[in-house]
Amino acid sequence: MKVIVTGASGLLGEEIAGLFESKGHEVIRLKGRSQLDLRDLESVVRLVGDIHPDAIVHAAAIKNVDEAEKDPETTYLTNTVATRNVAQAARMFGAKMVYISTDAVFDGEKETPYHEFDPVGPINVYGASKLAGEQVVKELCERHFIVRTGLLFGLKGKIETNMVLNLFARWRKGEVIPAAVNQRCSNTYTRDLARAIEIMANTEYYGTYHICNKGRASRYEFYSKLCTMAGYSADLVQPAQAAAIRFARRHKNTAMISLLYKDTFKDEMSDWEDAVSRFMEEYKKEN
Ligand SMILES: NC(=O)c1ccc[n+]([C@@H]2O[C@H](COP(=O)([O-])OP(=O)(O)OC[C@H]3O[C@@H](n4cnc5c(N)ncnc54)[C@H](OP(=O)(O)O)[C@@H]3O)[C@@H](O)[C@H]2O)c1
Repeated sequence: MKVIVTGASGLLGEEIAGLFESKGHEVIRLKGRSQLDLRDLESVVRLVGDIHPDAIVHAAAIKNVDEAEKDPETTYLTNTVATRNVAQAARMFGAKMVYISTDAVFDGEKETPYHEFDPVGPINVYGASKLAGEQVVKELCERHFIVRTGLLFGLKGKIETNMVLNLFARWRKGEVIPAAVNQRCSNTYTRDLARAIEIMANTEYYGTYHICNKGRASRYEFYSKLCTMAGYSADLVQPAQAAAIRFARRHKNTAMISLLYKDTFKDEMSDWEDAVSRFMEEYKKEN
């Protein structure tokens, strides 16, 4: 396939671009605003018309939940309007569209993991803007996949915004980092997610899918695992309450399961702890 990947300088987009290339697809990487601002409809339509891709994987977004809360207008322009522009262009030129969404479309009050048919109800600007993105994709582009995923970790993207690489840098200096015990989700390795998206995008089984590593962990459990596996003292992670350390409202539980992924694509995601171990092996190879 000929595939455009947006957000290709980001944590997930760069991983997806590399994975699709390794599977033999022709990939056109849109690396960010300095190359093409996706908020500009005419530019997006012109570019997609010139390239005529078979598929567009749309991974560009504002992901910082506190920044999103402080600047809703920029957040909606990026997460919703830019998504509308990409969906419009995909529709005009007959491309499939993969939209990367989030567990933050839910309200986080459910005790058990969310599946694809649970009602949504975002509690912050980030989640609401991403849910509005899902809606425009559904309205405009019939041949769509919506992929909801959990907190991502991986080696790619910009150093400044790569959460795990930043944690390692701070632990290296001996910094103690507070981590919420009351915020649980299904942490997901970008490499596993990219692999699953490639399998999915090769099919015509359109719809909304939860794709994340299995199981759930609090931010505290996740950071503690990373900290000790990287060889730092467990004391460098301190249990905290989410409300005390964050600006925007955070979810109690956004763990997810998929009722659809395994049977539709004959594939299974691994446990998050196994994914962290494989991530650490990759990290150690590169450092
Ligand atoms: N990270 C997570 O934990 C997580 C969890 C669930 C879902 N997601 C979703 O996964 C997707 C990828 O997230 P990520 O972690 O890879 O984000 P990221 O590392 O912050 O990358 C975002 C990318 O979007 C680009 N971008 C932002 N605004 C743009 C615009 N107006 N025009 C063109 N490009 C623009 C950025 O480039 P420039 O800054 O150079 O413009 C960057 O390449 C997003 O849809 C996010 O909502 C992420």
